[in-house]
Amino acid sequence: MSNDRFLRAVDVSKWYGDEQVLHDVSFEMDRGDVSVLIGPSGSGKSTMLRCVNRLAEVQEGRIYLDGEEITAPDVDVDDLRREVGMVFQDFNLFAHLSALENVALGPQRVLGLSKEAARSRAREQLDRVGLADQTESYPAELSGGQKQRVGIARALAMEPKLMLFDEPTSALDPELIGEVLAVMHDLVEDGMTMLVVTHEMSFARAVADEIVFLDGGHVVERGPPEQLFDRPEQERTGRFLERIAGHD
Ligand SMILES: Nc1ncnc2c1ncn2[C@@H]1O[C@H](COP(=O)(O)OP(=O)(O)OP(=O)(O)O)[C@@H](O)[C@H]1O
Ligand SMILES: [Mg+2]
Repeated sequence: MSNDRFLRAVDVSKWYGDEQVLHDVSFEMDRGDVSVLIGPSGSGKSTMLRCVNRLAEVQEGRIYLDGEEITAPDVDVDDLRREVGMVFQDFNLFAHLSALENVALGPQRVLGLSKEAARSRAREQLDRVGLADQTESYPAELSGGQKQRVGIARALAMEPKLMLFDEPTSALDPELIGEVLAVMHDLVEDGMTMLVVTHEMSFARAVADEIVFLDGGHVVERGPPEQLFDRPEQERTGRFLERIAGHD
């Protein structure tokens, strides 16, 4: 049963060798929702995200996206990755390609757009992230915040129906974090469905419909930010939030 939620993880379990890194993880999102995964290092946040675009394989449980079981063996993983954009902590840009070429590559190679159509789409997306004047710059000529905005534009250029963000601001100098969060904020306003791993708790509080707290591969607690941040039900949640307070 897929029911009518847009994204639904049902009892997802995963092992690396003998080590179980996800334990019956379940959560749901509707279209246009923003969910934020938080938790200590090694709690399984990245692994969970990677299961949603099949960069990692689930061993037990199922994930449904827009009515389809994406964990099914016969799913076309290339199709899935066209529909699910991902933004990485370390940008993953091609150093030998300009910002415009980095963004145009997917639409041209993967979606089969003409070179001109792909470049035009890339220009639109670079404009959307505030980089209209940097289209010809190479990654080495851009700040970390600009590189990450290119990374976001690159994902958007594929017109995904879900965006995954894995600590998109963790590699940035503090003064550059704000410009990336501002772009993500705009995406939220535009109604993009986003599953985000971040330690930026003010951002999470401002935009999330739901916070999912993972610890040791278990969902310890999940709920709207007001509940999870201000009135956590589980002692472990409270302890984690206290530990990271002051780093926010
Ligand atoms: N490719 C892999 N092979 C083996 N073990 C892995 C692999 N990727 C992750 N793990 C292990 O799975 C567990 C969860 O890792 P994961 O990267 O999902 O955690 P995380 O919550 O994203 O942590 P961080 O905050 O440090 O990014 C960890 O114990 C990690 O060592
Ligand atoms: Mg991680």
